[in-house]
Amino acid sequence: MNRRDLLKSGLIAGTGAMLTGSLASTAVANTDRRNIPQVGGCTIITKKRTLGTGKAALTVPALYVGCMGMQSGRGLTPDEKSMEKLIQQAYDRGCNFFDTAEGYSGGKNEELLGRAIASIRKNVLISTKFTVDLTKNSPVNDNRPERIKAACEASLRRLKTDVIDLYHQHRIDRSVPIEDVAGAVSDLIKEGKVRYFGLSEVSAETIRRAHQVHPVTTVQSEYHLMFRKPETEVFATLQELGIGFTAYSPTNRGFLGGSLTEYADMKTNDIRGDWPRFTPEALRANARILQVVSDFGKTRGMTSAQVSMAWMMHKYPFIVPLFGTTKLSHLEEDLRTADFTLSQNEITELEDKVSKFPVMGERYDATQQERVEC
Ligand SMILES: NC(=O)c1ccc[n+]([C@@H]2O[C@H](COP(=O)([O-])OP(=O)(O)OC[C@H]3O[C@@H](n4cnc5c(N)ncnc54)[C@H](OP(=O)(O)O)[C@@H]3O)[C@@H](O)[C@H]2O)c1
Repeated sequence: MNRRDLLKSGLIAGTGAMLTGSLASTAVANTDRRNIPQVGGCTIITKKRTLGTGKAALTVPALYVGCMGMQSGRGLTPDEKSMEKLIQQAYDRGCNFFDTAEGYSGGKNEELLGRAIASIRKNVLISTKFTVDLTKNSPVNDNRPERIKAACEASLRRLKTDVIDLYHQHRIDRSVPIEDVAGAVSDLIKEGKVRYFGLSEVSAETIRRAHQVHPVTTVQSEYHLMFRKPETEVFATLQELGIGFTAYSPTNRGFLGGSLTEYADMKTNDIRGDWPRFTPEALRANARILQVVSDFGKTRGMTSAQVSMAWMMHKYPFIVPLFGTTKLSHLEEDLRTADFTLSQNEITELEDKVSKFPVMGERYDATQQERVEC
């Protein structure tokens, strides 16, 4: 039986069937699924999770793809056509949820995503972020309400769409109360330019204050086996308020995928090279952690990247890992994480083994650390 027959028989779910619940009724309305282009490949991920609750609930694939590293920050600059194709390949494999930001590559990353999804827009969920206008020579955090509204218009233009599904504050602006930020996004939601509100790298207190003004759907922050700080306060608040969490850099920016060693060249187009956790000394010391994660996976048929993401997915039901890649093989490997199950005992075993080796090096340098609340 070929893929078309399987789809007809209902044995596998087509990508167009990914959207369910309240979002499906708005995003897929009037869409003729027969016109949705397919670019080859096969569905890999059908599992979904819901971020947020009540009117702020958004049902999404259980893992999602970040586009930042397709152009900058991770040392690789593949040609844009290949990356547009990779985004379409993710869609064809069942992932219709993509993250970008106005600050990535000075807006070019939003343009890349906009081009890649132009013909499938109605079935795709766009996650983007405001704060850092890198089109300026010296980027600053600017979350004044009028700037957020202007940023939204510019993002809509770059993304070639009339609505942003999930709009995050990327970084706090200490000169603007979070209530004003939440109010500006709330206005955009009332105007139909944004659907859901997200935050990034904020404290429990900021989450609570923002949520009082407008329900927050998700918080997007760094979280992985080598950085578990959100567990201390943020997760309790998210659980109490019914907010989701999208874990960015779930493989510690590739390190837990095994693709980085102390010999990696991180001097060109790679922000990791500036950070203490990615010095040759730290990479050498932390290789013991990678070995533990890798060994754990070997007895379960999992790669170290899959272990890293399955660990968080089974630890907390409200987490959706947000990974980045430039390669089809990694894309497929990462999406397949949703096929694995880890028991509570296995989670504890992994954590015990990893905790024997202290992590060397802070995740950010002082400048970046100043911009986050965690
Ligand atoms: N809110 C924020 O402040 C913030 C900050 C950072 C990132 N983000 C978002 O999060 C997304 C993901 O961040 P990230 O790029 O740091 O995530 P990541 O998935 O932890 O790291 C990406 C790196 O891992 C490698 N990789 C991916 N899958 C792999 C696999 N199976 N085996 C080995 N290596 C693998 C990639 O290399 P290949 O290209 O070779 O696959 C890439 O270098 C970004 O695109 C962005 O959208 C948000």
